[in-house]
Amino acid sequence: MPLPWEFREPIQGDRVSLDLLRPHDFDALYAIQSDPEVCRYLLYEPRSPERVRDVLDRDAAATRLAAPDDYLQPAIRNSAGQLIGTMYLRLASVPDKAGELGWLLDPRFQGRGYAREAAGLLLDLSFGELGLHRVFAELDPRNAASVALCERLGMRREAHFREQMWFKGEWADTGVYAILEQEWSARRA
Ligand SMILES: CC(C)(COP(=O)(O)OP(=O)(O)OC[C@H]1O[C@@H](n2cnc3c(N)ncnc32)[C@H](O)[C@@H]1OP(=O)(O)O)[C@@H](O)C(=O)NCCC(=O)NCCS
Repeated sequence: MPLPWEFREPIQGDRVSLDLLRPHDFDALYAIQSDPEVCRYLLYEPRSPERVRDVLDRDAAATRLAAPDDYLQPAIRNSAGQLIGTMYLRLASVPDKAGELGWLLDPRFQGRGYAREAAGLLLDLSFGELGLHRVFAELDPRNAASVALCERLGMRREAHFREQMWFKGEWADTGVYAILEQEWSARRA
């Protein structure tokens, strides 16, 4: 793997691009991260403006993958450059060449395939330039939109852990979806 890897330039797709978070993204990011519906299956509760400001500063500075748990949290931008969501890629293991994906889309921009396209760009990066072998996503199996996105990407359901987590006042299951490099390449071919 070519580590350290530095996020230097936006990654351009057909309709969306992945770019570093910028200070001017605050309003759009706050609108998303303070929305109870968006946060329903996320590990955090809707965020305050102060918390979003801190997170924006922290995530905008996360530009380098070198060691386990380093992550990227790029903005998903539409053709107007507007932030419509964020993606997440965590380097889970260097020897095992494993990464974890996550996603978040402004509800006004859901249902148009933008998350699918953004995730595809990140899988291309993961299995291309980064040389990862396996990419997985963990989710609450009740999160139907996220499950459907995993399936559209060709990720396989590999685990369903019963009541694995005390989550927002109740026991919740965890689902694990994954795809291997050769599987993503075969879909691309
Ligand atoms: C998970 C999440 C990112 C999925 O977003 P999404 O908009 O459903 O996913 P996509 O962008 O891939 O869009 C897919 C939908 O767009 C439709 N679509 C419309 N035009 C399309 C196009 N040109 N290309 C592809 N899909 C298109 C698809 O048919 C699909 O609709 P359906 O759900 O009715 O079948 C979103 O629900 C979200 O942000 N949820 C809150 C945060 C969250 O829970 N994150 C995950 C934590 S594990």
